[in-house]
Amino acid sequence: MHTHIALVVRATAAVVVVAALACGQPQTTVEHMEQHFEEVDAVKDAIIAGDLTAVKQPAAWLAEHEAAADLPGEWEPFVADMKAAAKTAEDATEISVAAVATAEMALSCGACHAAVGQGTAFAFMAQPEETGVTGHMLRHSWALDQLWRGLVGPSDELWQQGAQGLDEAPIQGGSEETRALGMRIHDLGAQATEAADPAARAVIYGELLSTCAGCHVAAGQGPTLAAGH
Ligand code: HEC
Ligand code: HEC
Repeated sequence: MHTHIALVVRATAAVVVVAALACGQPQTTVEHMEQHFEEVDAVKDAIIAGDLTAVKQPAAWLAEHEAAADLPGEWEPFVADMKAAAKTAEDATEISVAAVATAEMALSCGACHAAVGQGTAFAFMAQPEETGVTGHMLRHSWALDQLWRGLVGPSDELWQQGAQGLDEAPIQGGSEETRALGMRIHDLGAQATEAADPAARAVIYGELLSTCAGCHVAAGQGPTLAAGH
């Protein structure tokens, strides 16, 4: 199966910039995939920040972008699943719904990569060693990236690294609500180490995303999104 499949992007407002950068040329599969990864990463980061508004634009791109007619027929169900999940994330009025849909998107990325026997080799990312609440959060963020890459890859090794990265004492202080959410992260991390099936992993991932978002909203503090996304 050849990989130089030209995938055409529909020129919605959200992708005008991208289309301009690509000078109207059809993208290669690799370019298309890199854009997938950027957009889906932006969705994930918006959810972690608890910012449902920032979910919409990248989710809309993922829901609406078009693959070329020459995409082999057996791939279509994966693309359809991915777009349906993206649409759910785009339309979500609750962060927990968008979180589940985002995990399902990553699941369909990974399912296609596994089915076609091709996909991703992610660069190594060192686990942050900073101390204090910020260090704890940077490790959470690292762990969620590793789990994420584990789903998209798919990669058991990255999934396990992420799961084990959540295995540390929860932070103290805060309200009863935020302490409970902190405990929940670590419980879900323990469940993640046990989960072997991609669908079960995606369920845990969706809950993790909701829990990160829930605490940032409750604490009124958390990651700020970079300009643009
Ligand atoms: C319809 C099948 C299919 C779906 C769905 C799919 N991919 Fe891919 N992906 C591929 C194929 C095939 C390759 C290998 C392309 C190549 O190396 O030419 C690939 C490669 C990649 C790469 C590596 C690109 C590189 O730099 O070499 C990344 C990153 C990636 N995909 C991310 C994603 C993400 C994120 C999603 C979900 C939003 C996704 N893909 C959904 C088929 C798919
Ligand atoms: C117990 C509540 C709580 C939970 C649960 C929580 N966070 Fe946070 N997070 C905070 C607070 C409070 C801050 C701001 C304090 C700080 O950064 O020092 C923060 C800040 C952050 C930051 C910004 C760090 C920086 O550079 O300043 C990131 C990234 C982050 N969280 C990621 C995550 C991820 C990913 C998860 C889920 C695995 C998560 N957080 C779960 C409370 C929480």
